[in-house]
Amino acid sequence: MQISIIGSGYVGLVAGACFADTGNAVYCVDKDSGKIEALKRGEIPIYEPGLETLVKRGAAEGRLQFTTSTQDAVAQSEIVFMAVGTPPLPNGEPNLSFLKAAAEEVARSLKGYCLIVNKSTVPIGSHRQVADWMRPHTRHEFDVVSNPEFLKEGSALDDFLRPDRVVVGTEKESAYRKMAELYAPFVRQGNPVIWMDPVSAEITKYACNAFLATRISFINELALLCEKVGGDVENVRKGMITDVRIGKHFLYPGVGYGGSCFPKDVQALMATGRAAGVPMGVVTAAEEANFRQKRHLVGRVQQHFGKSLKGMHFALWGLAFKPNTDDMREAPALTIVEELLAAGATVSAYDPVAMENAKRLIGDQIQFASTAYSALEGADALILVTEWNEFRHPDFERIKKALKAPVLFDGRNVFDPARVKEQGFSYYSMGRV
Ligand SMILES: NC(=O)c1ccc[n+]([C@@H]2O[C@H](COP(=O)([O-])OP(=O)(O)OC[C@H]3O[C@@H](n4cnc5c(N)ncnc54)[C@H](O)[C@@H]3O)[C@@H](O)[C@H]2O)c1
Repeated sequence: MQISIIGSGYVGLVAGACFADTGNAVYCVDKDSGKIEALKRGEIPIYEPGLETLVKRGAAEGRLQFTTSTQDAVAQSEIVFMAVGTPPLPNGEPNLSFLKAAAEEVARSLKGYCLIVNKSTVPIGSHRQVADWMRPHTRHEFDVVSNPEFLKEGSALDDFLRPDRVVVGTEKESAYRKMAELYAPFVRQGNPVIWMDPVSAEITKYACNAFLATRISFINELALLCEKVGGDVENVRKGMITDVRIGKHFLYPGVGYGGSCFPKDVQALMATGRAAGVPMGVVTAAEEANFRQKRHLVGRVQQHFGKSLKGMHFALWGLAFKPNTDDMREAPALTIVEELLAAGATVSAYDPVAMENAKRLIGDQIQFASTAYSALEGADALILVTEWNEFRHPDFERIKKALKAPVLFDGRNVFDPARVKEQGFSYYSMGRV
C-alpha cells in the first residue's frame, strides 16, 4: 500500500518504519526540516531501541522516504496517518492546532479518494472534527478512521509489530477492511483487530492510559501508607499481582508517572468529563496523587537532613521519564530538580540518553555529568530517579567514596535495602522502611 504518515515523532516514525518493513511504500512527513534532513542522512532523531535498524533498512530498500512536503507525499498515498503532537493546553485540553493544520494541508493535497487515519491521541469527536476541517479544502472523497496507538516508548517497536490488539473506529466496513489488511502482518498470532464506532475508539485510548495511570497512583499511595505504618510495599505488590484479576503490569511504586501520554491523557479525560457534565473522579484522584508523588522524594531528602537544603549538592541518576527512552516530557526528574533548586540546593545529573533533551528544558540550572560516577563527586546524597539497567548493579564502594556521606534515595526501589544498608548507606526507597 502507499502510505503517508504526517508527523515523524515517536509514534509516526515507528509506525512508518514498521509499515515499510512489511512491504508498504511509506512517506514519513514532518514540518521540521532538521528532523527530515537528519533522517535522510540516516540519523535517528529519537532514542528508541531497534528503530535505527528498521529505519535504515526501509530507507535502503527505498520503501521508506522522508519529506517535508505533505503535498508530494499525500498525492501518492491511499492511506494518510495523522501522527502529529497533541500537547496539553494550560486548561488540560489537548492542543489541536497541529492536527488542524495537518488536516487542512492533507485536504489540499488530495488527488482522489483517501483513507485518513487519526493515530494521534485526540478528544472524543475528533474524527468528525478532522473531516470538518478538511472538507472546505478538497472536492475529493475521504473517510476518517480512528486508530489510536498503544505503543510504549522504550519498547515501541515490539508493541507496534506485535500489538495486543489494534483498534479501528469507523462506521464504514470498507475502511475497516482496508485497515485490517494493513495490520494483518502484525496480528498473525491471532490478536484482534477490533472494529468499533469511532467515538468508542477515541474513548478507548484515553480509558487505557487513564486506567494505567490510576494503577500507578494506586500503588504509589499504598507505598506512602507503608512508609507511615511500617509495611513493605514490595510485599504488598507481590501479594496483589499474583491475583490474576489484578495482574502485574503498571503496579511499580516510584516517583510518579510522567511522559508525553499519561499526564496529558488523564487531563484530557478530566476535561472531557467536565464538558460532558460527568465528573471523572477516579482519574482526578489519580492525577492529584501523582502531583504529590512527584514531590514526595524531595520531602524525604528534607526529612533526612532535618534542615534546609540550602548550599547542599545532590547527584541525580536518571532524567528520562522511564528507561530506554530519551523523552523528557513531564518527567518526574523535572519536578525533583525544580524542588531541589527551590530549596537552595545544586544538582549534578547523569542520564545515558536523555541529557540533550534535558538540557533543552533545564538549561544551565544544573550540571550535566559525563558519567554516572562523575555526577557523584562531592554530592551530599545520590538520588536515583530513572531505573536504567546500568544503575542496577553499581559499585557501592565507589559511590561511597565519591559522596560526602553515604546517603542514597532510591526513587524506583532498584536496590535491596538490606544489602545497601550493609554497605553502610543511609537508604530510603519508596514504601519500604
Ligand atoms: N509518544 C508516545 O508514546 C505515544 C503513544 C501513543 C500515542 N501517542 C500520541 O501520538 C501523537 C504523536 O505523539 P509523538 O510522541 O509521536 O509526538 P512528537 O512530538 O514526538 O511528534 C510529532 C511530530 O509531528 C510534527 N508535526 C506537527 N505538525 C505537523 C504538520 N502540520 N505536518 C507535519 N508534521 C507535523 C512535529 O514536528 C513532530 O515531529 C500524540 O497525539 C500522542 O499523544 C504518543
